Amino acid sequence: MQEAIILVGGKGTRLRPLTNHTPKPLLSVAGSSFIRHQIAKLMDAGVEHVVFATSYLASLFETEFKDFTQDLAISYAVEEIPLGTGGAIRNAGNLLRGTDPDAPVLILNGDILSGVDLRALLATHRDHDADVTLHLTRVPDPRAFGLVPTDHEGRVLSFLEKPKTPEECVTDQVNAGCYVFRRSVLDAIPAGREVSVEQETFPQLVRNGSRIHGHTTTEYWRDLGTPLAFVHGSADLVTGIATSPLVGPPAEALIHPSADIDPTARITGGSTIGAGARIGPHTVIDRSIIGGGVTVAEGARVHESVVDHDSVIGGATILRQVVIGCHAHVGADNELPAQLRLACGIRIPAQGVRISGTAAACLTVH
Ligand code: GDD
Ligand code: MG
Repeated sequence: MQEAIILVGGKGTRLRPLTNHTPKPLLSVAGSSFIRHQIAKLMDAGVEHVVFATSYLASLFETEFKDFTQDLAISYAVEEIPLGTGGAIRNAGNLLRGTDPDAPVLILNGDILSGVDLRALLATHRDHDADVTLHLTRVPDPRAFGLVPTDHEGRVLSFLEKPKTPEECVTDQVNAGCYVFRRSVLDAIPAGREVSVEQETFPQLVRNGSRIHGHTTTEYWRDLGTPLAFVHGSADLVTGIATSPLVGPPAEALIHPSADIDPTARITGGSTIGAGARIGPHTVIDRSIIGGGVTVAEGARVHESVVDHDSVIGGATILRQVVIGCHAHVGADNELPAQLRLACGIRIPAQGVRISGTAAACLTVH
C-alpha cells in the first residue's frame, strides 16, 4: 500500500489574516481547498492512505473531510505542541499502516502547487535505492528556500535551509517540499521533541553518508505561502498554466453558479468568484480571489488580491496586491497599496486611503 504524509501544522503567518481562522491548506484555491488538490494528485499517483500531520487549528481538517467518501483512507496525527517539520514526520509515521522498513513513504509540504510526476519521483527513489529522495526545482531567488546542490549523478551534496549571505547561495536548486523517505530512515528521526527536517535531519543524513538523492524537474512549481504566490497559484490553476485533477479546462475565470455578475464586469486572468458574491457594473477583477458573499460595487478594480468572504468593496475603489480579511468593509473611492492586509471586520470609510492623485477635499474638517 502506497502511503503519504502531508505536513499541515504550520500557522501560515505570511497569509494572515486569511489564516487567522483557516489553516493555509484549507484556504480555497481555484474553487477547492488547497489540500483537496493535493489529495487528488496523491490519489492519481496510487496513494491509498494519507496521514495529515496537524497542529494549528487541527480540528478543522477533520471537519473538512468528515464526509469524504472517496477511495482513500485518511488519518490525523495531531501535535498538541508543534513538533517542527521533522518531528511532525516522525509523529505521523506512528500512524502509517505498512510494516516494511524499506517501504517508500511520500511526504509533502502542505502548501506546494507542483506539476511533478509523483510516480516518477517514486521510480527515481527505487532506481537509486535511496534512503531519501528530494524533489528539487530551480528558482530565480533561492533565499526563501532550502538550497540543495547535487553532483552529476544527482546525489545530494549538502542541505542549507534559508541561506543568509550571498556566499551561501551556492546554487539556485532548492528543496521543493516533496520527499520520499525509506520507512526505517523516517523512524530514526528522534521522537517526542521538536525537530526541523531541513535544519537537522537532512544535513545530518548528508554528513553521515546516507543515500540522499535529488530528483530535479522543470515542471510548474510554486510555494503558496505568500499572498502574491497564493493568488498567482490559484489563477494559474484556472488558466491551465498549472493543473489539478479538480480543475476543468483552462478558463479566464472560475465563477460560482450562484454569484451575481453584472454583464459589464470584466473578470480575467484566472480570477475566482465565490458563492453568492455580487460583482457590480464596470468592475475589473483581474488575477484575484473573491470569496463567497463578497460585494464589489460599481467601477471597483481588484488586481492580484484576495478578498475574503462576506466583505464589501465600495464603488470605484482600487485594490492592488492586497489581502482583505473576512467581513471587512472598504468604502467607495479608496486606493489600497500593495502589501496591505486588512484585518477581518475592519471598516475603511469612503475616500479614506489614496496613494495616487489628490486626496479628496476635507469637507468635514475645513
Ligand atoms: N505538523 C506540522 N508541525 N507541520 C508543520 C510544522 C509543525 O511544527 N511547521 C511547519 N509545518 C508545515 C507547514 O504547514 C507547511 O506545509 C510545511 O510544513 C513547510 O512549512 P513552511 O512554513 O511553508 O516552510 P517554508 O515554505 O518556509 O520552507 C519549506 O518549504 C520550502 C519549499 O517551499 C522548507 O521545506 C524549504 O526547505 C523548502 O525549500
Ligand atoms: Mg511554504
